[in-house]
Amino acid sequence: MKKERIIIIGIGQHAQMIIDNIDQINNIEIFGLIAADKADVGKKVMGHEVVCTDDEVDALLMDNPDICGYFLGVGDLRIRQRLVAKYDAKIRAVNIIHPAAIISRYAQIGTGNVFEAYTKIANGVTVGSHCIVNSFTSVNHDQTVGNNVLIAGSVSMAGKTIGDNTLIADGASIGFKRNVGCCCIIGDGAVITKDVPDYSIVYGNPARKVRDNVW
Ligand SMILES: CC(C)(COP(=O)(O)OP(=O)(O)OC[C@H]1O[C@@H](n2cnc3c(N)ncnc32)[C@H](O)[C@@H]1OP(=O)(O)O)[C@@H](O)C(=O)NCCC(=O)NCCS
Repeated sequence: MKKERIIIIGIGQHAQMIIDNIDQINNIEIFGLIAADKADVGKKVMGHEVVCTDDEVDALLMDNPDICGYFLGVGDLRIRQRLVAKYDAKIRAVNIIHPAAIISRYAQIGTGNVFEAYTKIANGVTVGSHCIVNSFTSVNHDQTVGNNVLIAGSVSMAGKTIGDNTLIADGASIGFKRNVGCCCIIGDGAVITKDVPDYSIVYGNPARKVRDNVW
């Protein structure tokens, strides 16, 4: 099988998690990493070279037409939103699906998403683009997940909507048909029993809003 050659944007912890996932699939090859800071160019991260900065990426793509995609290796949702706008205009975002993730063929999935091992995306689910879905998370029937959503490990949800740019921390349980708005943070282990308005930080069991999330 011919591998897709991609660049990874970022060199930190999230980029390293992405490299680790790519190491376990056989359809993607990493050309190199893109750094924000010139001082990082030439360094190696888990055996992959930092080839240039964000500002130099147009020249890189021009010189290397075999690079056919990119993946965002940055975890901060605000920075991700900015980088998506920049990179989607240049090059296609690929999906990274660990072989042990279960994605229903009746689910609709956008681009630029990572699904780690032991995630389950059920039939009838829609996931937007540029989402991170960590291990042991279960997204069940008729759920819609927006764009640039980070769903950490061991989260469960079914039947409603998660808005764009929302972070759901480990072990949260989103009650059946409970809506979570955009730009929210749902704390670790939160049990969502009521709809969560946009721009909210909530945690606890049952979860309560503690303050606004300034986006
Ligand atoms: C949810 C979050 C915004 C809360 O941050 P915070 O308001 O600064 O919370 P603090 O750590 O200052 O704790 C304040 C209080 O809330 C409590 N608290 C914090 N998170 C809690 C949670 N998830 N559930 C219950 N209580 C919680 C603390 O115990 C503390 O209680 P105290 O005042 O009685 O001592 C923060 O924990 C967060 O960003 N979580 C997401 C983590 C993440 O990114 N996970 C993804 C990894 S891939």
